[in-house]
Amino acid sequence: MTRQYCHIGSRTIAYLDSTPGQTSLRACVLLHAFPLGANMWEPQMRAIPAGWRLIALDLRGFGGSTDVDSVTAVGMEDYAADVTDLLGELGVKKAVIGGLSMGGYAAFALLRSAPEMVEALILADTRSGADTPEGRANRRGMLAVVDREGPSGVAREMMPKLIGRTTQETNASMEPNVRRLIKQQSPVGVRCAILRMMHRPDSTPLLSSITVPTLIIVGAEDELTPAAESQRMAEAIPGSKLVIIPDAGHLSNLEQPVAFNAALNEFLASL
Ligand code: MLT
Repeated sequence: MTRQYCHIGSRTIAYLDSTPGQTSLRACVLLHAFPLGANMWEPQMRAIPAGWRLIALDLRGFGGSTDVDSVTAVGMEDYAADVTDLLGELGVKKAVIGGLSMGGYAAFALLRSAPEMVEALILADTRSGADTPEGRANRRGMLAVVDREGPSGVAREMMPKLIGRTTQETNASMEPNVRRLIKQQSPVGVRCAILRMMHRPDSTPLLSSITVPTLIIVGAEDELTPAAESQRMAEAIPGSKLVIIPDAGHLSNLEQPVAFNAALNEFLASL
């Protein structure tokens, strides 16, 4: 696995690539949660099955990827464009697209803008619905936190719900590790992500029209996007498979990487 940089005009897209330049392999693209970056996928990068190339990009404004300066006109479709732009540069025409939480919102945006690029879908710890009025009010509060204190403040506010109860009780290194991943992010990237999530459309009407193989994964102790949300998506997406990971919260891929990788790799092997 190496960190790569792709320059498109004045923009940079940073990404982790399990096997750079291997265009003969089938590609799986993983999209990170808020407010983390591509580094959150390291446990998956280390366990990629034979025949597959795993690409995890920093969505614009996160990690090593640049964002535009404007914070007024942003949408989830910007993140979808990051994926199509990067895959275009890499010569990848079609890929399995997986996203965790905000990464799932971006995967829905990609399904809307470039469905022909989506070979299969992985929706982890996410939801199809738009923000409720209460959710938007919370986002406005989070904008104030990021403006006042930067990503550290966001980490403090989100931490109790990002990590599941079992992980909090049994894995003392997880919280500092996640905090470190969040503190690496820039205030403007975090701010723009909040605005993008806040204005994202409802993707629920899309679910019944999804025809590609779909894997839905959720931590049993996820409080931010509870298992019931995943169950609803599984009922609506024809032929989809739901895996509930015990003893994991919202960051199921980090909290229970063995179980997450087993579900991911079994799904990829089935394609
Ligand atoms: C995430 O993990 O990406 C966020 O919790 C998603 C959200 O706030 O809606």
